[in-house]
Order: sequence, then structure tokens, then C-alpha cells
Amino acid sequence: MTQEEMIEKINRLKKEKNAVILSHFYTNPEIQGIADYLGDSLGLSRLAATADADAIVFCGVHFMAETAAIISPDKKVYSAAFDAGCSLADSCAAEGLRRWKAEHPGGLVVSYVNTTAAVKAETDYCVTSANALRIVKALPADCPLLFGPDRNLGGYIQEVTGRKMDLWQGCCIVHDVITPEMVRQTLAEYPGTDILIHPEALCSHEQEFISNPLIHFASTAGMLDIVRKSPAQRFIIGTELGIMTELHKQNPDKEFIPLRETLVCHEMKKVRLEGVLDCLENGAGEIVLDEALRQRALLPITRMMEM
Ligand code: 13P
Ligand code: SF4
Repeated sequence: MTQEEMIEKINRLKKEKNAVILSHFYTNPEIQGIADYLGDSLGLSRLAATADADAIVFCGVHFMAETAAIISPDKKVYSAAFDAGCSLADSCAAEGLRRWKAEHPGGLVVSYVNTTAAVKAETDYCVTSANALRIVKALPADCPLLFGPDRNLGGYIQEVTGRKMDLWQGCCIVHDVITPEMVRQTLAEYPGTDILIHPEALCSHEQEFISNPLIHFASTAGMLDIVRKSPAQRFIIGTELGIMTELHKQNPDKEFIPLRETLVCHEMKKVRLEGVLDCLENGAGEIVLDEALRQRALLPITRMMEM
């Protein structure tokens, strides 16, 4: 089947099954092209909750489809790349988190959304890169915080809010290569140019960058927002290269330079048209969760949404 034939079939089946296709910005261009909605982790969670559909085909890594299934028990949720993992979600198992909690009695667990349902079920508050600062600032000041699994995002939150937390030592293998030295070199090479960096980056907790007006730490949707509102014509992009598709689409006259051409999440690239078709045609990749676990995993997400 050609790509055009696959896309035609996907569009037909989508209507027949009253399904919507949600995609993260890091997927390949042809996947973003068939998506009904694109978003960052927070935006996609909101869309999963509100989409008027019988089914969701999720184009992203596994934890994202699982999060959609936690939020949307009334819909069938399919993962177009069921085996697409994430180094952050993989770094933290529920059993290890339970041990960590036992070592810190009375602490509140704040988990980045890049976690499994089992870890969310052990979590007090879920956060995404778009709302983590706001949520941590709003938590009771006298309560110790256990933040996981991303040590870089956690370090960034600590530096910006001044709130000390115990940090789980996980990282995103894509963003962890963005070192302070790499950013200093880029600032010297492109003087006066804005640099957008995801807070999962290794450099994100350096005060010299947090206080530099040319450097903006933001989620993927946050980056799109900054570019849209900025009069600047050129930006250096410090996140996974899939975001370039939407940046160019929304801003055809602006220039985007990748911080590194190697910032590629191969797990996100496992999402293929064949996988989307398999979900719609054969019901492949359905996310099925134990109902008691789903309800416990929903709690920290609901608290996040309410805040
Ligand atoms: P956001 O799109 O929420 O910024 O997160 C990036 C990410 O970690 C996706 O894997
Ligand atoms: Fe996970 Fe990093 Fe890939 Fe996002 S970019 S899915 S955090 S490994």
C-alpha cells in the first residue's frame, strides 16, 4: 500500500469508528499530518479528557497513551506504537518508588507525567513541563517533596522556585546531552539569538542560563507560544527535532536552528502509519488497565488538572 492509500484508509476508518488521532510534536511529519490534534503532554491529556469520540488512537510513546486511557475510561484508547518506551518512565518502577516513600515518611510525591500508571498510582501530584513550576509553588511549604523521575526538571524547579526537593535520579536520554558547555558555545556562536530549551535538558538548573533573557526554558507547546508571540526572526531549538515540523508550519517566515542535529527520540519515531492503521483496522495496541489501578493513577492527574 502506498503512503497515500494508507492515509486515505486511516481517514475513512477514523470516521467509521468515530475515532480521533492525538499526536505529540515529536512524531514524524506524516503522523503529525494525519493527527486531529497535536499537543504537549498537558495539552494531550486535556484533549483526551474532552475529545468527543468513541476511540483515541495515540501517536506518542507508551506512557502517553496510558495517561490518555487513565483519563478517558469511556473511550477505547489505542497506542500506535505499543512498545515505544521512554528512559524517564523506564527509570522508575512502582516498587522502587514505594521504597523511596518509606525512607521519607510524610513527604509528598510529585511525579512528572513521564511515568507508568503504577507509578502514578503511588503519586500525590502529577505535573508536566508546562505546569510543574506553578504546581510546586502551590504545595504546602512545610511538607517535604519527593520529585521524580527527572532529576533535570527537578533541579530546574528547585533553582527557579527556591524549594528544595529530594530528586529521583532519572533523565531523558535525548535532552540529557544538552550540557552547559554546549549552551555556552551556542551563545558565543549566535550572539543575540534566542535559545529555547526543554527543562529536561542537563543544563536547565544552571542559574547563569535561568537568568539569561535570551534563554527560555519551556515545554514543547510553550516553545511554540514563545515563537508565535516574539518579534524575533531566528531561534535556536534545544529539544527533540520533531517540533521543527510545527514550528515551520506555524511560522513559515522564521528561521529555526537545531541546537544539535542529533536530538532525536527514536522511541517517538516508532510511531508509523502502519501502526495507526493496525489500531483502527484490527484494534491493535489497545491500552487495558486494571480499574482499581486506573482510579488510583487518576487521582494525581485530577489534582494537577484542578490546580
Ligand atoms: P512536553 O511536550 O510536555 O514538553 O514533553 C516533552 C516530552 O518529554 C515528551 O516526551
Ligand atoms: Fe522520553 Fe525523552 Fe523520548 Fe520524551 S524525548 S519520550 S522524555 S526519552
